[in-house]
Amino acid sequence: MKPATNSLPRNSPCWCGSGKKFKKCHLGKDPIHSLSMNEKPIFSEKRIYIKTEEQIEGIRKSGQLTKKLLDMVEDRIGEGVTTNDLDNWVHTETLANGAIPAPLNYGHGQGKRRMPFPKSICTSPNDVICHGIPNNQALRNGDILNVDITCILDGYYGDASRMFIIGDVPEDTKKLVEVTHECLKLGIKQVFPSKRLGDIGHAIQKHAENNGFSVVRDFAGHGVGIEFHEAPQILHFGQPGKGEMLRENMVFTIEPMINMGSYECRILGDGWTAVTADGSLSAQWEHTLLVTKSGAEILTA
Ligand code: MF3
Ligand code: CO
Ligand code: CO
Repeated sequence: MKPATNSLPRNSPCWCGSGKKFKKCHLGKDPIHSLSMNEKPIFSEKRIYIKTEEQIEGIRKSGQLTKKLLDMVEDRIGEGVTTNDLDNWVHTETLANGAIPAPLNYGHGQGKRRMPFPKSICTSPNDVICHGIPNNQALRNGDILNVDITCILDGYYGDASRMFIIGDVPEDTKKLVEVTHECLKLGIKQVFPSKRLGDIGHAIQKHAENNGFSVVRDFAGHGVGIEFHEAPQILHFGQPGKGEMLRENMVFTIEPMINMGSYECRILGDGWTAVTADGSLSAQWEHTLLVTKSGAEILTA
């Protein structure tokens, strides 16, 4: 997910990793620089790609590989497995399929203050909201874990994540994981040409808050496919009828991060790992979606 630029303080380091202050870097700008790759741009002032049939077919294939890799994780994950094991398995299998893991070295050349992402997947356990870095810690009974996989196949990006429950967890933990999955599905139901981004955010926020949970503000879903993080940002909260209008052949992620406690987060010293400020549990599910005449096609299902 891309840090949500409407909530980043002006003086904090820019989300792009340049090392510059946000206000001197991407504030008021969007992150797309290769509009030349877009054969059929609309909303060109906002740089939202409307994908061509050829691009959609490419993203579809990449999305299917991402799904296959998550299925492999689902088959092998369990108590005693380390997040480095998951990283190694996905890395090897991605290359075996002729693809590249997008997170590996992501952020390189965008400034020196933060290291490029050092692994091939993100693994975010328990109170980690997103961008957790795989390590040698074994998973234990009672853990919950988000595994987020993005692969680049023939230049096209597919991005998805799932939650995994290790052994037995308390009822309220199970509920957090399930409600977050429902939030993603409710967001997807809003995807329809002429609907607006605020409709997606509102559906997610309402369901999360009705269940006593909070929606993370500092990270958002994003356009995806030709680049890792394209415009627009997809906020997981908002007002119905507000925001950018959805058009056929837009491709973006919805990836709600829902906390059991407050939505505030902080970034650890590694420059990547986002954790809940109050130490409460956090869950996330993600799909890559294509807007079609008849609603969403889930490219990573
Ligand atoms: N896959 C994440 C997303 O959903 C982004 C990970 S960026 C990384 O957008 F550098 F941390 F890998
Ligand atoms: Co994403
Ligand atoms: Co992702």
